[in-house]
Amino acid sequence: MFIIQSSNYLQFLAKFGIGGAHPGGINLSKALFEHENIQRGVDILDVGCGTGQTAAYLASFYQANVTGIDVHPLMIEKARQRMQKTHLAVNLIEGSIEQTSIEKESFDFILAESVLAFVNQQRALQEIFRLLKKGGRFIAIEFTLPATLPSQLAQEIQQFYGFESLLTKKDWVTLLQQAGFHNIRIQKNKSISSQHEFHFSQHIEPELLDVMDEHMTMNEKYGKYLDYRIYSCTK
Ligand SMILES: C[S@@+](CC[C@H](N)C(=O)[O-])C[C@H]1O[C@@H](n2cnc3c(N)ncnc32)[C@H](O)[C@@H]1O
Repeated sequence: MFIIQSSNYLQFLAKFGIGGAHPGGINLSKALFEHENIQRGVDILDVGCGTGQTAAYLASFYQANVTGIDVHPLMIEKARQRMQKTHLAVNLIEGSIEQTSIEKESFDFILAESVLAFVNQQRALQEIFRLLKKGGRFIAIEFTLPATLPSQLAQEIQQFYGFESLLTKKDWVTLLQQAGFHNIRIQKNKSISSQHEFHFSQHIEPELLDVMDEHMTMNEKYGKYLDYRIYSCTK
């Protein structure tokens, strides 16, 4: 029997080259950016940028100065291919957001789209706070544990997706406050969705097809529990 390891879900996303791998996808991202003051040339960091779909949009639509960071080498490689193809000067860094060597207060705006659930949230939020300029904005779209989720299901979800920990709305707000953020706003937008984008690798391990099947089964079985919120705040 194939035992699904915590990292296999991210490996599946990377090998399938899934863009917009967050609830609401690129259309939700676009809608959120409309409410932010994103001027030409502002410095933006896309944390866990994946294959770079959002980073490319910010660079082309807003002509922002965009950096993407991702811990997965294949994600960064696919993001790099995208930027080369589209002639976008997005700076891409392979590394973890838990600790970077980027200079402090480098960004006006930082976003994390379905990333923080996979990392040590305390360390990542401290680093994001350090990297943000004073008055800068941070937006995260993150899995949020519903109060009604039975603990056995929670464990199953955590194990399959490889989430570092499962946080409720209250936990997220506490962590954001502890990191120093203020003006914290929580939203949910169920009405916006997007088609995923795919950028397949040439070789895909058969086990990863099982991960895809399992992901679909999880969605069918536990869809109502796979909830998320949009957290926006200011430094
Ligand atoms: C669900 S995917 C979302 C990707 C992208 N934000 C999107 O919406 O398409 C999560 C991403 O977070 C990245 N990631 C996981 N842990 C990370 C870490 N410690 N630092 C940076 N990126 C990380 C993964 O490699 C993956 O690309």
